[in-house]
Amino acid sequence: MTQDNSSQDKAAGQMGGGDLFNTVAGWVLFAAGLGLGLSILSGKYFHGDKPERPEQLGYVIEGAVEESAGPAEMTMAEALNTMPAAELIAAGEKAYSKCQSCHTIDAGGANGIGPNLGGVMGGPVASKAGFAYSAELKALGGNWDWDRMNDWLKNPKAYVSGTKMSFAGLSKIEDRAALAMYLNSKGANLPVPAFVAEAAAAAPAEGEAPAEGEAAAPADGAAPAEAAPAAPAP
Ligand code: HEC
Repeated sequence: MTQDNSSQDKAAGQMGGGDLFNTVAGWVLFAAGLGLGLSILSGKYFHGDKPERPEQLGYVIEGAVEESAGPAEMTMAEALNTMPAAELIAAGEKAYSKCQSCHTIDAGGANGIGPNLGGVMGGPVASKAGFAYSAELKALGGNWDWDRMNDWLKNPKAYVSGTKMSFAGLSKIEDRAALAMYLNSKGANLPVPAFVAEAAAAAPAEGEAPAEGEAAAPADGAAPAEAAPAAPAP
């Protein structure tokens, strides 16, 4: 009798343990399966492991490259202050070899394919006697200054569409600054714009400020919303 009872208890105990184990194992398997299934599914739809845009584009978009290089580029004022004036003028004289085929630089020099450039910096645009300027350059008006020369030398056709100057432009701000400095030494000797390092450091921060402001705005807006449901709770 007692033996029978104990063996029944044993069997019941074992069975109970087995059921519990099976149930737990079943849930664990189920959870693992669910997790795997979800990660496969989300992988299919979101490509979390693959960037959508390749780091290096197989093709180059001229304008886009120029623009993306823009923010990293120095300002004209900064570029004009990277080295002593005399060194920058010397660098500009070298870079001027790219212009020589069409221009003369000394005051009163002859016009060639392009007009003489003596006194051009600081002087009125398109003002050399005897040179047949394009109507578009003549229409620009005003005087050549640092910023205008920078834009012109970067891409003449973008700055004055319809210009007769068949020159692609200088993509590096350093080259444009050096050339402007050289032209200026043969021109009006305009003062070099001051460049204060702190001002430049503050400039990008100012550029970012609106982004921070935008980011701050929704946060501010969210704060009262969070506070509102919290208030009635207690
Ligand atoms: C292929 C010939 C050619 C080359 C190279 C060239 N230019 Fe010119 N440049 C011209 C012509 C032509 C004009 C007149 C443009 C017009 O009338 O639209 C001109 C006009 C200018 C002007 C305006 C002159 C004024 O009187 O207002 C400047 C400044 C100038 N060039 C600077 C340069 C510099 C600096 C370089 C070298 C980086 C250069 N150019 C290379 C042909 C050239």
